[in-house]
Amino acid sequence: MATDNSQSKLFQPLAIANGNITLKHRVILAPLTRNRGTPNSHSTPENPNRIWVPNDLLVEHYSQRATDGGLLITEAIPPSLEGNGMPGVPGLFIPEQAEGWKRVVDAVHAKGAYIYAQLWHSGRSNIPHMTGTPILAPSSVPWEDPNEYFKHPPHHTTTRVKFADYPPSEMTIAQIKSTIQDYCKAAKLAIDTGFDGVEIHGANGYLPEQFLSSNVNRRTDEYGGTPEKRCKFMLELMYELSKTIGEENLAIRLSPFGLFNQIRSIQRLETWSHLCRELKANHPKLSYVSFIEPRYEQLFSETEKQSFLDSWGLPDVDLSLFRKIFGDTPFFSAGGFNDTNSWGVLERGDYDALVYGRYFISNPDLVEKLRNGWPLTHYKRALFYGPLEDNSVGYVDYPFYEGDVKAEL
Ligand SMILES: Cc1cc2nc3c(=O)[nH]c(=O)nc-3n(C[C@H](O)[C@H](O)[C@H](O)COP(=O)(O)O)c2cc1C
Repeated sequence: MATDNSQSKLFQPLAIANGNITLKHRVILAPLTRNRGTPNSHSTPENPNRIWVPNDLLVEHYSQRATDGGLLITEAIPPSLEGNGMPGVPGLFIPEQAEGWKRVVDAVHAKGAYIYAQLWHSGRSNIPHMTGTPILAPSSVPWEDPNEYFKHPPHHTTTRVKFADYPPSEMTIAQIKSTIQDYCKAAKLAIDTGFDGVEIHGANGYLPEQFLSSNVNRRTDEYGGTPEKRCKFMLELMYELSKTIGEENLAIRLSPFGLFNQIRSIQRLETWSHLCRELKANHPKLSYVSFIEPRYEQLFSETEKQSFLDSWGLPDVDLSLFRKIFGDTPFFSAGGFNDTNSWGVLERGDYDALVYGRYFISNPDLVEKLRNGWPLTHYKRALFYGPLEDNSVGYVDYPFYEGDVKAEL
């Protein structure tokens, strides 16, 4: 028997963007990299294509998940060629990409939904074949596992390469400043394209989180050495972005307890709470902040993650510390929410909205399924990431709910 969950706080309105946007529900599409973009140029071995643009499939994918008054966050979007850590990922740094994204934005708006662009710089989690230039990172720390391969073979080959064979270069101060300007240009282009706001990907071990993390930020200048100095890049980035697009249009995603992409930082609470205190003080009107659950990890089970938390002396840690710092800033969380554990979380006041990744991949009508207690379709992990021979598979072909008879089979 399906249950009626329409009285849950998940389906109550929520104001974000300093009151400029009122969402009609709190079931949010997580940022999800799916590598389904179209190459921007004919690729040859001498001149490989390194730039991708949004296409009809992306329009369909986002439009399928758009609901009246709902919020979608895009897949991670590189603000520059230097920041692009994967094939098939449409960036936002040339007009053709902006035109493609505008079609996505228009389709989403036509359904009454809102859409934020997530900006993402891969930093050291990349190989120079993707960028055509040396890989930039806070410090020149080679990949720890000497045998780990970059997931995709470089252009026009079938042989994958090892991360450790291409250690990153330490960013100069000039490179730090120009990278921040790349983000600002992309953020301005996002707003000009019609996006409702911009979320900075400050999680999952990519460039901004690399700066926060002691094991990969070994700098001894003003950008490294102490928790406060390791926050400087992120704070500067958010300051420049808020000057460019307005802090009410700006959001950030953080994973203070994350391990992805070899993050093994010490001083987690000191670093991330300093960052959050400064963000709240400097930008009290941020659109929202979005966190990842301490016990969720892409590559480890919950039990394995718990042993990391135990070893850090944080066995019972939760996100309440950060919730308290941010006060009335809308606070989202993601990591393992489904049709059984989503209830009562918002009523307890832990968070203001829940962000769904994998179940939104396999349930384009997730909002209605949760509202009506209809069963969820399970996701196919092997089809998460493209490029695939047929990029529509596992992307726009998950079924919508078709009625009780089918659901009860
Ligand atoms: C296929 C896939 C792609 C993802 N891509 C991104 C991304 O581009 N940016 C990001 O911040 N997180 C990314 N994530 C993490 C998700 O946004 C989310 O935090 C994670 O899946 C946990 O939520 P879930 O349990 O609801 O899936 C990705 C996760 C998956 C499974």
